[in-house]
Amino acid sequence: MKQKGILGVDIGGSGVKAAIVDTKKGILLTERHRIATPSPATPEAVAKVMKEMAEHFSWKGPIGIGFPSVVQNGVVQTAANIDKKWIGVNAEQIFAESTGCNVHVLNDADAAGVAEIRFGAVRKHKGLVLLITVGSGIGVVLFARKRLVANLELGHIIMPNGIEAEAYASDKVRKDNDLSWEDWAKRFNEYLCYMESLIWPDVIVLGGGVSKKMDQFSKYFTCRTPIVAASFLNEAGLVGAAIAARRKFEE
Ligand code: BGC
Repeated sequence: MKQKGILGVDIGGSGVKAAIVDTKKGILLTERHRIATPSPATPEAVAKVMKEMAEHFSWKGPIGIGFPSVVQNGVVQTAANIDKKWIGVNAEQIFAESTGCNVHVLNDADAAGVAEIRFGAVRKHKGLVLLITVGSGIGVVLFARKRLVANLELGHIIMPNGIEAEAYASDKVRKDNDLSWEDWAKRFNEYLCYMESLIWPDVIVLGGGVSKKMDQFSKYFTCRTPIVAASFLNEAGLVGAAIAARRKFEE
């Protein structure tokens, strides 16, 4: 029997989160289930977590997975916040083997962008939309006329101060260094202004866990581009991964 919805998964540095998603409406059909990301997060260990996840939902249908790396045709190409053993691994293949399901894997920030551009506040925006997700890493997504430019790794750009953006202004850096919202926001603002001067987007969408707290720190942002909080807050990744899987397997 065909199952309703698509299982959407977001693999992050600290947790693997999943829910069954109604991809036509952009809503969760189940509670979100979270399993701690194994340490070390090797391909075998994460594949085991995915098996457990599919079993939790008694899932046999398609699965969409957002993964925190460059992913080209299912193959992981980088590993900034995940075990280095992932580089060169066909993630779609090993997750398909461990779950017995059809699996589509894409970059986690790209997945979040897919949800925001389809159902979020920027869904009607046809200009240049820049989405920045802030968590353990910094993920950057660009939509031009609603078309995704995939695997843009601008979280690793070297800032004018000589420091990699992700090492200067990620949410992990805020937590590890006990930065106040003000101190972190001032750093992040430098990054936003730098991105603005290079890309000139029409709007910037801020995603990831920090977007929930935007009212506390948006006053420190000085760039001219309007900045809006992601509509899905931190569920965007799994919703967008499910939408991407539907497009691949069901359309
Ligand atoms: C990775 C990106 C990812 C981002 C958010 C970065 O460190 O290089 O691929 O999208 O973190 O998880």
